[in-house]
Amino acid sequence: MILYKEAWKIQIKGVKIMKFFEGFKVNGKPFLAIGAQAHNSSSYTREMFNEAVKATVALNGNTVEAPIYWEKIEPQEGKFDFTSIDYMVELCRKAKIKLVILWFASWKNGDFSYAPAWVKSDQKRFPRVLRADGTAVPNLSAHYDENWQADAKAYAAVMAHIKKIDEKDQTIIAMQVQNEPGYLRTDRDFSPKALENAKKPVPEKLLKYLETHNHAPAYKYWKENGLKKGLDWEATFGFWGAEFCETWFLALYIDAIAAEGKKVFDIPNYINVWLNAGNPWGVAGMEYPGGGAVIRVMHIWLAAVDYIDMVAPDIYEQNSYRYQRIVDFYASDENALFVPESSGFVTGACNLFYAIAKGAVGYAIFGAESYVDAEGKVNDTALALRDSFYAIQKAMPLILKHKNTGKMYPVVPHAGLQDEGFEFKEFLGNVMYSSNRYMPGRPLYTDYSNRRLNLNEDQMTPRGLIIEDEDKLFYLTGYFHLRLMPKKSPEISRINDYLPVADFISVEEGHFDEKGEFVVDRTRNGDQVMFGGFWVTPACGVVRLRLL
Ligand code: DGJ
Repeated sequence: MILYKEAWKIQIKGVKIMKFFEGFKVNGKPFLAIGAQAHNSSSYTREMFNEAVKATVALNGNTVEAPIYWEKIEPQEGKFDFTSIDYMVELCRKAKIKLVILWFASWKNGDFSYAPAWVKSDQKRFPRVLRADGTAVPNLSAHYDENWQADAKAYAAVMAHIKKIDEKDQTIIAMQVQNEPGYLRTDRDFSPKALENAKKPVPEKLLKYLETHNHAPAYKYWKENGLKKGLDWEATFGFWGAEFCETWFLALYIDAIAAEGKKVFDIPNYINVWLNAGNPWGVAGMEYPGGGAVIRVMHIWLAAVDYIDMVAPDIYEQNSYRYQRIVDFYASDENALFVPESSGFVTGACNLFYAIAKGAVGYAIFGAESYVDAEGKVNDTALALRDSFYAIQKAMPLILKHKNTGKMYPVVPHAGLQDEGFEFKEFLGNVMYSSNRYMPGRPLYTDYSNRRLNLNEDQMTPRGLIIEDEDKLFYLTGYFHLRLMPKKSPEISRINDYLPVADFISVEEGHFDEKGEFVVDRTRNGDQVMFGGFWVTPACGVVRLRLL
């Protein structure tokens, strides 16, 4: 049997590595997953899970992410209960949304709280991570086969059940294999096997990978220590040796579980990361779970795993510059970006456009149910997010078409920035983030019929996407006012002391149909396009500009 990933492996100087994950497909069609993650305890009952589904739909999401629990799936060794998976699939189908299942098992936030009692209570059979003083922490050690094998048996059983109930419908689009794996409360594992493994030579597979990926942060530390081969982890990587060793073995542990799952049923999967945001001060085991795929060790994960499709950062960062640095690191030609958790308040509602413009294959905010009230109505503080998801939904075929082409420009206000300039092929563009700089061509708080939209301040925060589809053909989605002027204007007189203008053929509002064709709903001219401004609000859908 050829596994999904095996078909994609490529050779780099004798090292097998994974090829880039191209994105989700549902019944053969590309699918961009946007939505929300349920709270941790929401899948214990059908009713609670349904609240998360309803909230996701209210937020204009098309995908809900929710956990299943090893302790509930296999309460007694070898006795499985898949009831939770059944109602999760049923409720998602009813709501016409997709599902990402999170496997809470050996790891949940650097802990093993979801392991069944028969695992937790048998430390002899299932060895724990030990601290330097020999005390155990609530983690299964990645250095003992018995641990991953027990987890993998349950995971494979889950995948067999999913294959049975969902192979045809494809409601479940992906699996998250564990949750924010790594160790807390110790910077490394001091169990006997862990110490033994740390003294073994660093595997050639990793060093060959780093040789061919010398932009990897891990390469830098290898270089600083003399690029030596055949030595143990500390001699090879110095200060970082222990963390790198734990990372390697943790990645192998989870890869082995993922492999058992893929052998049974091969759907996309990922691991998620509790970030350290590249902060050199952050210490493994304190600021983040040691062994997790933080920036410093991300390439160690990429070198180790063969059966994991993506390394996915949980981005709670609010600051837009830092947020963008994280996206730039995890969205590369080595790793497709999937953001399984993020903030759903106004900065999140803006920042997400950066991730989408950089080719994210999926995006979710965390804590679906928190964004709606008891009646299921979206809270005021989440209306901006709801509108952002709406804007993305309206432009979906176009976003999928332009993924990784460099033709999607995110509009995301950085704190303190009054405006931002864009350079397109034949035009220069400008979006004002602060409305007191110039009088915008038209205030954005009315709809097409000039009726007041009654938006709150968060909803009126400029954000969205500018898509340069073809020369002189632009699409806008989101909430912003774009000024454009031709780069080479023979009519310099048009750049007057009011506002520079790009001449247009048409300005239209519309949506995309089933086939991905743009359908014009309304045409604008006159007052609605005066003063050189092209504007969009979620209420307009997508705006198409044909320029001269
Ligand atoms: C990150 C974890 O992955 C989630 O399960 C949840 O615990 C959130 N943190 C809470 O902020």
